[in-house]
Parts: sequence; C-alpha cells; structure tokens
Amino acid sequence: MTSTPTPKITLVDTKPAATVTDALVVAIAPVRGRKIEVISPGLSPASRTRLAEAFTAVGATGQSGEVLRLPGGGTFKAPTIVGLGLGSAAQQKDPELVRRAVGNAIRTLSGIRRVALALPLADLEGLLTVAIAGQLAAYEFVAFRSATSGGKNASTRSITIVLESPPTAEQKHAIKEITAVATAVNLTRDLVNTPPNALPPAALAEAASSAVEGLPVTVTIWDENDLLRDGLGGILAVGQGSANPPRLARMEYAPEGAVAHLALVGKGITFDTGGISIKPAANMDEMKADMAGAAAVIGAVRAIAALAIPVRVTGWIPTAENMPGGGAQRPGDVITMYGGTTVEVLNTDAEGRLVLADALVMAAAEKPDLIIDAATLTGAQRVALGSRTAAVMANDDAAREAVCAAAGRAGEDVWPMPLPADLRSTLDSSTADIANLGDRLGGMLSAGIFLKEFVPTGQAWVHMDIAGPAFNEKGPYGYTPKGGTGAAVRTFVQVAGQMALGAS
Ligand code: BES
Ligand code: ZN
Ligand code: ZN
Repeated sequence: MTSTPTPKITLVDTKPAATVTDALVVAIAPVRGRKIEVISPGLSPASRTRLAEAFTAVGATGQSGEVLRLPGGGTFKAPTIVGLGLGSAAQQKDPELVRRAVGNAIRTLSGIRRVALALPLADLEGLLTVAIAGQLAAYEFVAFRSATSGGKNASTRSITIVLESPPTAEQKHAIKEITAVATAVNLTRDLVNTPPNALPPAALAEAASSAVEGLPVTVTIWDENDLLRDGLGGILAVGQGSANPPRLARMEYAPEGAVAHLALVGKGITFDTGGISIKPAANMDEMKADMAGAAAVIGAVRAIAALAIPVRVTGWIPTAENMPGGGAQRPGDVITMYGGTTVEVLNTDAEGRLVLADALVMAAAEKPDLIIDAATLTGAQRVALGSRTAAVMANDDAAREAVCAAAGRAGEDVWPMPLPADLRSTLDSSTADIANLGDRLGGMLSAGIFLKEFVPTGQAWVHMDIAGPAFNEKGPYGYTPKGGTGAAVRTFVQVAGQMALGAS
C-alpha cells in the first residue's frame, strides 16, 4: 500500500556463505593497530581472514556506518559481499548507531532486490534494531515518477537476516510486530511526500480511512458543513481561502479491555502558503509537508491497531489548505474557536495553532489519560534545535518526561522545552481573548503556550513541534530518506505500548 513496499524480513539459520541472496552484508570492526576484523558469526576462520584482507585492501577501517563492496562468488553463494563497519564495542551496543549503519548498507544497495544481513545480534532487541533499520532504509518515493524516468521501486524488496540457530516463534512474532511499525512509518512518509495537488484536505481525511482498512478502527469525517454546524471556527478560518475545503477526521481504536486512553492530534495543513501573510517563494514547496503531524497520527493509529495494543486511541486530524484566496481570512480578523474562545488573527501564517486548538478542545472533551499533538508548527523550532531534533513541551512534567523517554527508546531524537508563563502576555490581544502571534523571540514556546490555552486544566497534554525532523530537505543519511521522515510515529507507538504496561 505504500509507494515502495516495506521489505519482507526472512529469518534463516543457514551459514552466511551458503545463504542464497543478491548481496551478503558482513560486519567489520576496527582492531588495535589500524587493522580490522570481520565480526559476523557463522564464518569459517579461513573466510574470516580472507574477507578481512580483502576489505583491508579496499581501505576498510571498520568505523561505524562505513560500507564497502566486494565481488562474492567462490565459497560464497552471494555474488556481492558488503562490508559494514559497526565501530567500537561501545558503538556496537548503541542501537541508533547500529540502525544508521544498517541503513547506510541498505541504501547503498538500492537496485539490489535481495539482501542478506549476517551481523552479530546480541538478543531479540538487537534483531529488531537491525530489522527496522533495513525496512526504513529501503524506502523510496516513486509514486509520481513515470516508468521512463528510470527505476520504479529500485529499492531492496526482501531482507534475509542470518541467525546462528533456527528462528524461534518469539523472534518471528517480534519481526511481524516491528514490520507493522516500519510499514506505518513508510506510510506516513508517503503521505508527507505526496504532492499538495494530490492531497487536498478531503484526500488526507480519506487517507485516515484507507490507512486502517481491515483494522478495528472507526473513522468519522467532518466536512465543511459539519464543521460550521459544530462551530470549529479555527479549522474553517484557515481553510476559507482555499477552493479545497477543510475537514476534521477522528480515528478511534477502542479494543476491549483497554487499560488507558491516548489521544493523538496532528496538524494537517496540506499546503501552507502562509495565506494573506504570504511566505517568500524560496523553498515554499516544502510546505507540502505541513501535514506531517497528521500523517504521523494516521500511521501511528494504524500501527497501534495492527499490534492490538490494549489502549484506546483516538486520532484527531484537523486539515485545511492555507491559501490566500478571495475568501481568505485577513490579519485582524477575530474568529471564534470550538468551545467559544475568540482569537485575533494577527498573522495568517500562524495557522497551525488555529486548526490544532479546535481539535485539542474536541479531544479533551473525551477526557483521555493523555493528549499528544505533533505539528510542524514553527520555523523557530528549527532555529532552536536544528533539523533532526524534535521539541517536546507539556503542561505536565511527568507526561513530558514519559514522552521523551519513549522517543529515546523508539530511536527518535527529541529534547524537552519549557512553556514559560511569562510569554503568555505576548499573546495578549486588544480585541479578542488571545492573539495567534506572540513575540518573535521564543516563537516555538509562544506557539506552545497558545495551544496550552485550549487544553483544560488537569488534562495531561504534550506538544511535539516536529518542524525540523519531519522533513529532510538535505541528502539521505542512515535509515532516513530525503523528504518525509515519518517523525513521531515510532514515539506515538512506543507511548501507547508503555501505557498498556501501565508505565505512563
Ligand atoms: N508551517 C509553518 C512552520 C514551518 C516552517 C514548518 C518551516 C516547517 C518548516 C508554520 O505554519 C508557520 O508558518 N509558522 C510561522 C509562525 C509565525 C508567523 C508566528 C513561522 O514559524 O514563521
Ligand atoms: Zn504557516
Ligand atoms: Zn504551517
């Protein structure tokens, strides 16, 4: 269902040399004295020595993430042997470094259909680390490329992981589960990469439905008339300048015996021109990714339902296209949000907080145990933390710490940020309850403080500003492709898993 199918993982216990594949990846590590050793299990001492010599001859150092290719054949069934550097013993124990290294190997092998990985795997976690890295790194977005422009789906289709003993039922089951997570991340990437003319708000809302086909998830969609009837003034105001009307989608997964309720809210601006407060032309195309929070919610709800995690999850997707049409909202307009709060719109480019506010009020009305929103909310987020680290803010210290811990375990880079009460006054309006624009300094924080106003006291809420990490405009690295990254999906799934264990 994704543009590039997420590769299937097969577990085998053949010897690496006897494994049938197009390319065999073996692990290399540096040893004292500028030498390397091959650390994959299952190799004969002779081939270990021979491979170490051959990789040394082509300059291998064994540093983490290094990838070198040699012809195979001979005693090896594989026609290509790839040496993958895993670095020092400490680096080999860092799951994120291993994921990035495996990602480098799989990306380098684009065009090769079947890849076998013969790597040292300490335990089940180690196996899953390697598996998801491969599945995320094989991603390519080719849905809008015609066959003539070269290579539809050139990426790796199947990944064989070579084990030392026959695969256990536990291992096979865990691979199935991690595949559900990887598939969801890749689906989120597809939605983010889809051009904005192909994904107006109605299509994004529909994508919430199609993503969960066959899963026990119900999806309700508000069209523009429903939004008007129910008074969702923020979503309507942002959408009113576009010929493509806004929507709100609500996804609900309510398994029997759910032990907790998690609400996920995602910013779904299918294209952000800025509206009347129009953005400069340079790089405006990247604003197709302004629905990455929504896409992450869609992917996460799908994964959580597929994994049958015993937590009730509601996913909220407020979606609109922010365009400067004749009907567009103006700077100076006062709008009435869902729940009655009035907002003076001082800058129509600060639109994410307007659509999110409506959805947060709706989500909170159901009194979930925790609300997490994800949004490409501010350019200031990227200024503060760069393009690879998400910011996490909250009205509850324990909830913020739980989400940061979950992100770390899931392999997503986040950092906690404050919501200083002193900044609230920068959002004061002379005509309405609040303005949508605060001080430029601390712009990420005043955006968070604006959202906080719409969360009832006592309702635990965490805000993830993913403006930087949601979209990789530079080259690919590790298991992260260019374009949509799927940021926040793995964190959301991890939080749901922790809530199921009563740990959050
Ligand atoms: N979608 C943007 C934020 C953004 C910028 C995301 C760059 C990813 C990359 C958001 O709607 C926006 O325009 N925010 C304004 C807010 C300002 C007007 C208060 C910004 O950050 O400049
Ligand atoms: Zn904007
Ligand atoms: Zn935006």
